[in-house]
Amino acid sequence: QKNGFDHFMLKEIFEQPRVIADTLNHYIDADTLTLRRDRMPFTRKQAVLLRQLTIVACGTAYHAGMMGKALIQQLAKVRVDTEIASEYRYSEMLNTENEVVIAVSQSGETADTVAAVRKARKNGQRVIALCNVIGSTIARETDAVLYTLAGPEIAVASTKAYSTQMLLFELIALDLANLRGELSDEDLKRHLTELLQIPAKMEQILAQKETVKAFAQSQCKCNDVFFIGRLMDYYSSLEAALKLKEISYLHSEAYAAGELKHGTIAMIDDATLVVAIATQESILEKTMSNVQEVRARGAKLLLLTNYPFEPPVGAELWNIPHTFDEFAPMLTIVYLQLFAYYMALQKGCDIDKPRNLAKSVTVE
Ligand code: M6R
Repeated sequence: QKNGFDHFMLKEIFEQPRVIADTLNHYIDADTLTLRRDRMPFTRKQAVLLRQLTIVACGTAYHAGMMGKALIQQLAKVRVDTEIASEYRYSEMLNTENEVVIAVSQSGETADTVAAVRKARKNGQRVIALCNVIGSTIARETDAVLYTLAGPEIAVASTKAYSTQMLLFELIALDLANLRGELSDEDLKRHLTELLQIPAKMEQILAQKETVKAFAQSQCKCNDVFFIGRLMDYYSSLEAALKLKEISYLHSEAYAAGELKHGTIAMIDDATLVVAIATQESILEKTMSNVQEVRARGAKLLLLTNYPFEPPVGAELWNIPHTFDEFAPMLTIVYLQLFAYYMALQKGCDIDKPRNLAKSVTVE
């Protein structure tokens, strides 16, 4: 049931604070501020021996996997590759000793991800699943499963499954970092304390829905949207662009901000909306200089940031509540899911069942 919301997608966006809290409660012992060891996929020995992780997934789950790569490399210093499952299943994979594969899937039934899991297991690799549906094919066929506690996701556009997948990668990255001696117990506690604040910070963004709606209405004539950012903000851009295309059929693309000048900036003019995401302190200034470049070409600008910036004149600014930089993508995406929703709403699209798409892609 939609519980008073007009669409399942909107209901599921608004469920995110609760499902993030449920998933946190499942994996974190809030009294001792530790991870529940029996629910985490690596022993200390496995963590120390780990040489390579390969993440396989499709669509939105693949974007969560890219976030996982950034987090695990940054925090745990383990090398991670992220592979689109439909490519992985047919490509030559060179196994590394002590490599583990992580398959990410909301449904647990996506044909290409199932095939990637079977290939990895045939190669003798340990496969861990991040999955939302209990007892699904991927959950049954893998060596260990970490469930996202997102509850049933009905809308074709994935929202709450994505944020809980990112959360699981946060927890795996922190756990691996701690087990491998890259993060002290005290720092782990500091991070877990901050993660426990994420649901309340998501609520603060959801409270801005009228601002997002009004801005979407002001963009009704827009034909192209470019999402730009660097590092994790680039991965948020990929997910935001997919969400917008999927439900509003509006042309949108995601670009690593520094890559624009290698061709794509030629397309930017005053009929383009550029959505710039700047939540990572280490590269803030670089992203902001790309913002100036697109402004100089007349693009309309929406800036999302958790740092105090004076937005360029005429630009729209959405503030992200302050958190650790590595957790900011879980907040950024809430704004961008709402943006995609309201853009699709004003175009009169069938939001919960977009054309040509199925919730679960069980054929190749
Ligand atoms: O069930 P899965 O997570 O394996 O599904 C993967 C993709 O088909 C899915 O994320 C798709 O991209 C969504 N419709 C995007 O919103």
